[in-house]
Amino acid sequence: MSKITAAITAVGAYVPEDILTNKKLEELVDTSDEWILSRTGIKERRILKDPSLGTSYLAIEAAKDLINKANLDPAEIDLIILGTVSPDMPVAASAVHVASQIGAVNAFGYDLQAACSSFLYGMSTGAAYIESGRYKKVLVIGADKMSSIIDYTDRTTCIIFGDGGGAALLEPNYEGLGLQDELLRCDSIGRNSLKIVAGGSLMPPSEETVAKKLHYVQQDGKTVFKFAVSNMAEVSAQIMERNNLINKDVDWLVAHQANKRIIDATAKRMNLTDEDKVLMNIHRYGNTTSATLPLLLSDYEKQFKKGDNLIFASFGGGFTWGATYLKWAYNS
Ligand code: UT7
Repeated sequence: MSKITAAITAVGAYVPEDILTNKKLEELVDTSDEWILSRTGIKERRILKDPSLGTSYLAIEAAKDLINKANLDPAEIDLIILGTVSPDMPVAASAVHVASQIGAVNAFGYDLQAACSSFLYGMSTGAAYIESGRYKKVLVIGADKMSSIIDYTDRTTCIIFGDGGGAALLEPNYEGLGLQDELLRCDSIGRNSLKIVAGGSLMPPSEETVAKKLHYVQQDGKTVFKFAVSNMAEVSAQIMERNNLINKDVDWLVAHQANKRIIDATAKRMNLTDEDKVLMNIHRYGNTTSATLPLLLSDYEKQFKKGDNLIFASFGGGFTWGATYLKWAYNS
């Protein structure tokens, strides 16, 4: 039998209806539409306003979108990996709730946290299960209700993040399509540059941590920017070299949507002169953390052709980063 590769065979997505524009943010903090757009490329982001709904809602809706589009029987799903930094609760994995809510009655599931690289790392994990022959249908979801962990009086973070969810189904492929190669990295040099200080075992929540707003995301933007530009661009170029790909061989760059300037720098390092190859939706959703990559896949799915070469790239807190080379497996 030919070698099993792990291919994406369906995608789905969900973003909440409520739109938070740059103009609206001007009323909340000292900022401007012009500053946000020129420094990040973001025009608006989606917010899940209902306080009774957590990240699992975004994940469930994204999974349902995939199931409907692919006409998939959820009972056939073996495993659900939910990449997220904002689970419904610290204990009781959100993926388990997702499995039950979508009718994945034969699946097991767990959450995976690697900041903005959660989806990319999740694809790696899911692909390994498929390649080993152990499971046939792995649903990898990236979802985050970032608005639940953002301080809307902090202009250095609240302008960036938004809420959303996306999903991709991995299945065995015998034609050599799907995941080809990956370069995943991490370095705790970034531990203090992008973090939520309180709420974990190192600093359990208390009245004091809440009063000091230590349960919200804090970011040293300049430092993260510097590392993101150099590391994401470097692994993307390395994975091309390692697979003997030159710019014309790459059909699509699927890069984490943190800042348009970081994405442009990565594309430049890869010599991608054709802007149309660089997937972009940051202007509509902002940085949805674990959801950026599957949201891109869903938005651009119709343009992908069977056999297209996709390079995924991500960079996130920790630091975590990486690049993945994948051959698209279907025409939609
Ligand atoms: O997804 C996970 C990984 N995260 C990232 O990749 C994010 C990486 N970082 C960034 O995208 C950028 O650093 C930011 C968008 C967060 C900030 O852009 P920047 O060009 O690095 O701005 P800066 O922090 O260097 O600040 C420049 C100036 C400062 O004023 P002074 O000191 O030059 O007078 C800031 O106080 O802009 C000021 N500033 C703002 N002005 C208006 C900072 N935030 C804002 C704001 N509106 N929201």
